[in-house]
Amino acid sequence: MRLLVTGANGQLGRALKEALADKDVPQAYSDYDADWIELPDLDISEARAVDAWFGAHGPYDMVFNCAAFTNVDGCETQFPTAFAANALGPMNLARACAANGATLVHVSTDYVFPGTEPGERTEKDVPAPISGYGRSKLAGEGLACAMNPRTHVVRTAWLYGDGKNFVRTMLGLAKTHDEVTVVDDQLGNPTSARDLARELLRIALSDSFGVWHCTNEGTCSWADLTQAIYDIAGLDCKVNRCSSADWKRMNPQSADRPAYSSLKNAHLEATIGNHMRPWREALEEYLQ
Ligand SMILES: NC(=O)c1ccc[n+]([C@@H]2O[C@H](COP(=O)([O-])OP(=O)(O)OC[C@H]3O[C@@H](n4cnc5c(N)ncnc54)[C@H](OP(=O)(O)O)[C@@H]3O)[C@@H](O)[C@H]2O)c1
Repeated sequence: MRLLVTGANGQLGRALKEALADKDVPQAYSDYDADWIELPDLDISEARAVDAWFGAHGPYDMVFNCAAFTNVDGCETQFPTAFAANALGPMNLARACAANGATLVHVSTDYVFPGTEPGERTEKDVPAPISGYGRSKLAGEGLACAMNPRTHVVRTAWLYGDGKNFVRTMLGLAKTHDEVTVVDDQLGNPTSARDLARELLRIALSDSFGVWHCTNEGTCSWADLTQAIYDIAGLDCKVNRCSSADWKRMNPQSADRPAYSSLKNAHLEATIGNHMRPWREALEEYLQ
């Protein structure tokens, strides 16, 4: 089994490396060989560079695309760069995969949904992003599927692992502040990069190509998540709850985010089983 992992130094790329080293890894990976790549070794938005990489190092059986431009606010001001990484990147990888029948596992986001309706979104719900990040990621989903029929698009949300993320930011703020103000009217699914990585390895082996939702179970607001972080970590920092409208007034440059982008792991449930555990359980393990 020959694998290529892009975005190898990102949160998910690192978690994938750990998951593949785990003794519980699915049998199919027991004898794998992987190329782990990152910027500047390969910029996935450069078609010729991707083709040259596959020509020199391929063929691969599977490609895990963990590379992305993930700064949601930055996507508003740097949309061409975001589009290149999040839309053209997966298109280039999918085309290179299709040339020798490789499977592409491409990771996407809950922010492809507008979040106007309460409840959970399944893979059958119609996306309609409200931010530059969401638009660039939705374009990437479509382009990847169009270029390679053996594509799994896996949407996740509110990811934390080994890297810059909300959980680490809030832990850091508690060291220097007695209180923090956090949005309370956006609901989603905090998700452990470690849990997602394990599921990606199972999804990659499935022939049920298409879109998958994969988040830890349960829904909360950013303020609820912050309170949980401080409770579990035993930190005495007050959480003041504010609305998205208040946040926008305080941070006018920030991107709009969906109010309800909670995902239901329906494709997993209907096929290989949903192994994702409740978000609070995963968070407790992370904070330990
Ligand atoms: N983080 C979240 O909350 C979240 C939520 C939903 C979905 N997702 C999705 O989950 C996936 C993994 O996210 P993550 O949190 O692991 O992201 P991350 O930690 O930001 O890692 C992304 C990696 O991709 C690299 N990269 C950026 N542009 C690239 C390019 N053009 N070519 C090659 N590599 C490039 C980045 O390198 P540099 O650091 O050098 O730029 C970084 O190492 C992404 O598809 C993301 O959209 C994330």
